[in-house]
Amino acid sequence: MTLRVAILGSTGSIGRSTLRVIDRHPERFEVVALAANRRVDALAAQVARYGPETAVVADVETGCPDCAGSTRWRSGAEALCEVAADPTVDVVVNALVGAAGLPPTLAALEAGHRLALANKESLVAGGSLVLAAARAGGAEIVPIDSEHSAILQCLEGSDEKAVQRIVLTASGGPFRGRSVDEVRSVRPEDALQHPTWDMGAKITIDSATLANKALEVIEAHWLYGIGYERIDAVVHPQSVIHSFVEFVDGSVLAQLGFPTMELPILYSLTYPERVDDGELRTFDPVQAANLTFESIDHEAFPMFGLGVEAGRRSGCAPAVYNAANEVAVAAFLEGRVRFPEIADVVGNALDRIGASTVRDLDDIIAADRAARTAATEASERLGNARMGTT
Ligand SMILES: NC(=O)c1ccc[n+]([C@@H]2O[C@H](COP(=O)([O-])OP(=O)(O)OC[C@H]3O[C@@H](n4cnc5c(N)ncnc54)[C@H](OP(=O)(O)O)[C@@H]3O)[C@@H](O)[C@H]2O)c1
Repeated sequence: MTLRVAILGSTGSIGRSTLRVIDRHPERFEVVALAANRRVDALAAQVARYGPETAVVADVETGCPDCAGSTRWRSGAEALCEVAADPTVDVVVNALVGAAGLPPTLAALEAGHRLALANKESLVAGGSLVLAAARAGGAEIVPIDSEHSAILQCLEGSDEKAVQRIVLTASGGPFRGRSVDEVRSVRPEDALQHPTWDMGAKITIDSATLANKALEVIEAHWLYGIGYERIDAVVHPQSVIHSFVEFVDGSVLAQLGFPTMELPILYSLTYPERVDDGELRTFDPVQAANLTFESIDHEAFPMFGLGVEAGRRSGCAPAVYNAANEVAVAAFLEGRVRFPEIADVVGNALDRIGASTVRDLDDIIAADRAARTAATEASERLGNARMGTT
């Protein structure tokens, strides 16, 4: 049977990788919807090639191009949710970036679809709502994040009571090994040079601050129902071991492979089946050579601890952490705040907004907005202070 796949965020790094995987398995997958935010030319080129039934430009101001053909063009965030909920879709790949991915995640799950989830921010911001939507729709979430895909593979067939601990691996990013003083003046172009992964700008900066690993700890907590005290992270610069699961008898399983997102993407589409891809690089232990591990340097990379603490505080705190981080990362990329100030901006938002209870999506939206306002103000204060205007 051919699976009908909707790809939200098709113009991004994960979206394009998903299309490459699908190109190699045309007998298995049919692309029925594509969606992007503003890069209309890139989206139009994909539409010309794949001929989906629907194409969505999320940003209403950008609007739809004037294209001939049978594809129905839609615009606006609502249209993303309608595509995600379309009853004729089998799998929704959520490869959007940021908390904007939460409403389509909920829509896909409530409709009972398989959600191949790259957009970890959905789970971080709205974990309890996402799980409730999956239960209500009888839907399954299959992670695309390589670490969580690794954990899923290691857990296969085991009793949850047998799991002692999860250990996520982190590449350490481009500033691994640098001290607090050495990261003070790093520039956005340095932070965008990831040593092992080629990804979108936001996750690349999150990898440099280690916010990405905190988001992944929260993601693992929700996906696998494991308490924060039983989730650890370790720096593994080669990105060959994608995570570990330790069992109560002391046995440890890991999933390995040379770094490529195409493997976890393929697995998210075919799970629990394993499919011969033919093109992915074969693993060779001799070429992998030395695999090394280090502890996280909490002083130089405080975003990790701040994020895990927000996860432990629960309620709206993870949504606040995530939203403030999105604002701080954008400000860093635009040169308005310095690298260590990302943590100052996020810490300030967490202190100001707190961790009220999550009852529904409105609570998350309110916390997200308040965090963006607080983080924008803090970024402006820092920028102005540096320019000597306050
Ligand atoms: N890249 C990786 O290797 C990797 C690995 C693991 C997990 N992830 C996760 O996967 C997600 C996507 O990452 P990425 O690296 O692929 O990001 P990316 O390259 O920046 O692509 C993001 C995609 O989302 C669209 N988009 C951005 N903001 C949007 C909005 N407000 N509404 C609707 N669409 C929006 C973009 O459209 P435009 O092109 O029009 O801007 C683009 O198609 C993130 O959650 C990331 O953490 C990524």
